[in-house]
Amino acid sequence: MRAVVLDRYGGPEVLQIREVPDPVIGPDEILVAVEAAGINRADLHQREGRYPPPPPAPPVEIPGLECAGTVVATGPRVTEFRVGQRVAALLPGGGYAELVAVPHRMAWEVPATQNWAEAGATPEAFLTAYDALFDKAGLGLGQRVVVHAAAGGVGSAAVQLARAAGIRVLATVGTRAKAEWVKSLGAELVVNYREASFADAVQEWTGGRGVDAVLDFVGAPYWQANCQILKPGGTLVLIGTLGGTETAVALGQLLGRRLTVCGTALRSRPVEAKMTLVQTFRERVVPLLGPGLGPRIDRVFWWEEAGEAHRYMEQNQNLGKIVLAIRPSALPRP
Ligand SMILES: NC(=O)c1ccc[n+]([C@@H]2O[C@H](COP(=O)([O-])OP(=O)(O)OC[C@H]3O[C@@H](n4cnc5c(N)ncnc54)[C@H](OP(=O)(O)O)[C@@H]3O)[C@@H](O)[C@H]2O)c1
Repeated sequence: MRAVVLDRYGGPEVLQIREVPDPVIGPDEILVAVEAAGINRADLHQREGRYPPPPPAPPVEIPGLECAGTVVATGPRVTEFRVGQRVAALLPGGGYAELVAVPHRMAWEVPATQNWAEAGATPEAFLTAYDALFDKAGLGLGQRVVVHAAAGGVGSAAVQLARAAGIRVLATVGTRAKAEWVKSLGAELVVNYREASFADAVQEWTGGRGVDAVLDFVGAPYWQANCQILKPGGTLVLIGTLGGTETAVALGQLLGRRLTVCGTALRSRPVEAKMTLVQTFRERVVPLLGPGLGPRIDRVFWWEEAGEAHRYMEQNQNLGKIVLAIRPSALPRP
């Protein structure tokens, strides 16, 4: 098969397609002919050599944490998938390829309401957002959350999932265009952090009481404000550290206001934990995926332009997800 292989780390130009051996499936795996692979920030970090795949190290390093495609073979112990089925899957890597082997518990059948690009852009962002809102922060109906970087892949998934569950969202973004777009996804209030203080906005929105949870991707620069805007007993879920990792911590604030700070990383979790999350998501969310809930596709790139797609993500302009089409059927219809 052909795949985008990281033979060396570096800029977007290192993403090159070449021949590699076909994956061999185990008894509990399915072989998927990939149609579309979602691009994630982590792929950019991996390309730069800052985010190695979890052990065991693969023989060739192929990026891609999520994909959708057609089942072309099933292992002898797989009973719930059959050849020809459309599936989406969470991957530890390997999505930027014509074929990928997937443990069957990491996949679900794609609903008829999703096209290839949407299906391939769902797993990583939506599972991360689902886990952060419900498993980590334990949010429910009527509670309030701040979602940072809300126009990004994970952020826009979190806004939609929160709205679907009746959780009230104040979102932050870096441009006016993003603000309008995130509002259309269901955020009650959107703050452009270049024009206004999100801490002041939360103060006003909650009458000074603070929010139940914050989903953060920025890290160090937001640490103090994040702690300040949480109500006593609130939870900060740290999903990314795009703005930096080092900061001073006022322990008294955590203690006195009974705050929970929770870091999360999906890829490095034990396989069984990821499978459990996938199964829960498959039961509760997959049946609801469609025009009203699901990844919004900003752009689909033909996979020979994987470098261009990474450059595009680096510009921070995307509204929702960027996708690689591995087969022509995943390209948007003209
Ligand atoms: N922990 C996990 O399991 C997990 C899983 C998936 C993703 N992540 C992490 O979540 C973050 C978002 O991923 P994504 O795929 O949703 O990315 P994305 O679609 O590229 O969105 C990222 C957005 O973050 C905002 N941002 C704020 N501060 C930034 C900074 N200093 N540098 C760059 N961007 C900044 C930008 O939007 P504005 O213009 O609005 O600022 C940017 O467009 C990444 O850090 C990723 O590694 C973690």
